[in-house]
Amino acid sequence: MTSPADWPYPRWVAHRGAGKLAPENTLAAFRQGAALGYRAFECDVKLSADGVPFLLHDATLQRTTSATGTAGERPWSELSQLDAGSWHGRQFAGEPLPTLTGVAAFIQQNGLALNIEIKPTPGLETLTGRVVAEHAARLWAGQSMPPLLSSFRPECLLAAREAAPQLPRALLIDTLEAGWFEMAASLGCVAVVTNHQLMDAALLARVQGAGWRALVYTVNEPVEAQRLLALGIDGLITDAVDRFAPAAG
Ligand code: G3P
Ligand code: MG
Repeated sequence: MTSPADWPYPRWVAHRGAGKLAPENTLAAFRQGAALGYRAFECDVKLSADGVPFLLHDATLQRTTSATGTAGERPWSELSQLDAGSWHGRQFAGEPLPTLTGVAAFIQQNGLALNIEIKPTPGLETLTGRVVAEHAARLWAGQSMPPLLSSFRPECLLAAREAAPQLPRALLIDTLEAGWFEMAASLGCVAVVTNHQLMDAALLARVQGAGWRALVYTVNEPVEAQRLLALGIDGLITDAVDRFAPAAG
């Protein structure tokens, strides 16, 4: 069971580090979200070939960087040289892929909260869950607000629990498949994060009735945000950082 003291996270969470007005999963995006008043951020973390946790949504590089191919097959020495900003706009040319270490520093220096989505290169679920959790535990040691670790992949959360059982975990759910509730329970999750279209009063009651928090992604329309807030949702992950003022949530 969780209590309010166990849940220090703001209700509004900027998706991919506020990656709409600035390139997703870069520090430029985090800076943009913070400037708009966001106090909590979600980002996607995977491993370089030599085990460095860094931010990238896709398994491949071509959509959001100057390179192509599978990101997880390259060492950090190569990934760190890529341009992760030009695809979004010329003003972001040269914006690098951030490491989890760099993001931790930004988050902590600014008193912010972080939701780390463990987004493994396919086939590396257990390794990624373990290494990301080990880094997160070390980077946030002694901090009052630990990062929330989430994943669509139970193997990631299982490995994270074994590596850093003290860090809070959340199961991400895109469709309500049989066994989701038991899976979240067996992983010792404190929250469930669903596609917003799945969330209704019955599901919210099931999640909160288990003592978990209920969060949703990715809410970009005001009418939908109002529906979810009226239900009593605990967290909304949004791209629309220029539309929703987080203090109003
Ligand atoms: O963590 C919630 C959300 O980010 C999951 O979807 O594909 O944007 O990582 P995706
Ligand atoms: Mg994500």
